[in-house]
Amino acid sequence: MRFPAGFLWGAATAAYQIEGAVREDGRGESIWDRFAHTPGKVAGGDTGDAACDHYHRWAQDVDLMADLGLQAYRFSIAWPRLFPDGSGRPNARGVDFYKRLVERLHARSIRPVATLYHWDLPQALQEKGGWANRDTAWRFQEYAAAAFRELGEGVDDWATINEPWCAAFLGYALGQHAPGLTDWPAAVRASHHLLLAHGLAVRAFRDLMGPGKRVGITLNMTAAEPASENEADRAAARRYDGFFNRWFADPVFLGRYPEDMLAWYEAAGALSGPVSGTAGGRPSETLSGAGSGTTRCAAAGGGSPAPDWLRPGDMALISAPIDFLGLNYYTRTICQNDPSSRFFGLRTLPPRGPVTDQNWEIAPRCLRDLLARIQQDWTRGLPIYIHENGAAMADELTPDGHVHDPGRIAFLRDHLAAAGDAIAAGVNLKGYFVWSLLDNFEWAWGYAKRFGIVYVDYATQRRIPKDSAFWYREVIGQNGW
Ligand code: FCB
Repeated sequence: MRFPAGFLWGAATAAYQIEGAVREDGRGESIWDRFAHTPGKVAGGDTGDAACDHYHRWAQDVDLMADLGLQAYRFSIAWPRLFPDGSGRPNARGVDFYKRLVERLHARSIRPVATLYHWDLPQALQEKGGWANRDTAWRFQEYAAAAFRELGEGVDDWATINEPWCAAFLGYALGQHAPGLTDWPAAVRASHHLLLAHGLAVRAFRDLMGPGKRVGITLNMTAAEPASENEADRAAARRYDGFFNRWFADPVFLGRYPEDMLAWYEAAGALSGPVSGTAGGRPSETLSGAGSGTTRCAAAGGGSPAPDWLRPGDMALISAPIDFLGLNYYTRTICQNDPSSRFFGLRTLPPRGPVTDQNWEIAPRCLRDLLARIQQDWTRGLPIYIHENGAAMADELTPDGHVHDPGRIAFLRDHLAAAGDAIAAGVNLKGYFVWSLLDNFEWAWGYAKRFGIVYVDYATQRRIPKDSAFWYREVIGQNGW
């Protein structure tokens, strides 16, 4: 297995998942601080208060990356470090942390790739409605512009929003992520404002940044597969694909929302209308209007309803040309038609093959097909980077002082092989970032799930590279295996 010359090998993290030091150097509260400190929201009552203490250990962490032969490092900037209250003037101490980080990355010949939004919205903006409030997109533009000005010299590659699907739907509709709402109209609105924020940041980027700098977005996609070959299940998979993939990729690359999903949300009463807005949430009633999904969807089809959140010019901003797509891929989703389900008239079925420690099915084959489909339907030859791919495993530090994770090595190898197949089939895939460099705060799962190629002993904050880290170093060295 050989990758093309220049294929970029990296690892990824996110601010709230690793930094800790949540009250240091003027950092403001984020929605994840608030959420994690709300009893019952995160497994084990875990919070990001200390995390991997990367805020103090960043220098050694960069040295570790260099030891592992990483060529690139994808990290995220904590919005509340730069804007503790969500607006105003940038907090210099927050900026300095990332300046030092970027400098050291360069000193160790590691290419920094910065993500602007990996879910840590300043709580002050949540008080005003968060992403359900259109105004938040403009606050994001201000933050993005400040980050470009302050850090743009050292960072060539920028991702605007990480996984808007999670931020909007896990956060506002399904209640599993901050801010923990169960309000479908708010979620649909939030999804649009996240995309708008992306578009506004891209515009700021083009105004402020010179040639040789690149901006894109990071989307998580699943392979939505039908439970059977029958037509109803195929239609169910198509709806899930609409919910998860097309709702974000169509606006960015085609400049429009998918009609079938607009019709779906309209029929469900989730497209427009009142939202609860602030934290606290309300019962998850809003999609119930959908009743028997398929029928209503079909009935509402043809001619797209106009959502009240869509303003003239929005789609042009959202679909402005970008320089790459970041893809986060973890698993596939098996979809079965179920007219009694309030959730798009479908149910998702349990995995049919081996799973990770999170019960996510290990489905490398789907990655190849997904990449091919992304290029054909959306990116049309634009560079694609896998910005995240990896597996939670029940890793243990053994008495020999090592962490043996053959399951993760197999996972990474099989997914990289699938990525290689996609390249051989003509997909313009330019690089791969393993999720994650370090074990870290895995959102609602807390510290119970370990994704790192480096083990973190949270009691001592010792970093112990797992077998997979040594394997990955070899792969990078040989550009394959
Ligand atoms: C993705 C997130 C990332 C990490 C992985 C496992 O959805 O972007 O922060 O939690 O899942």
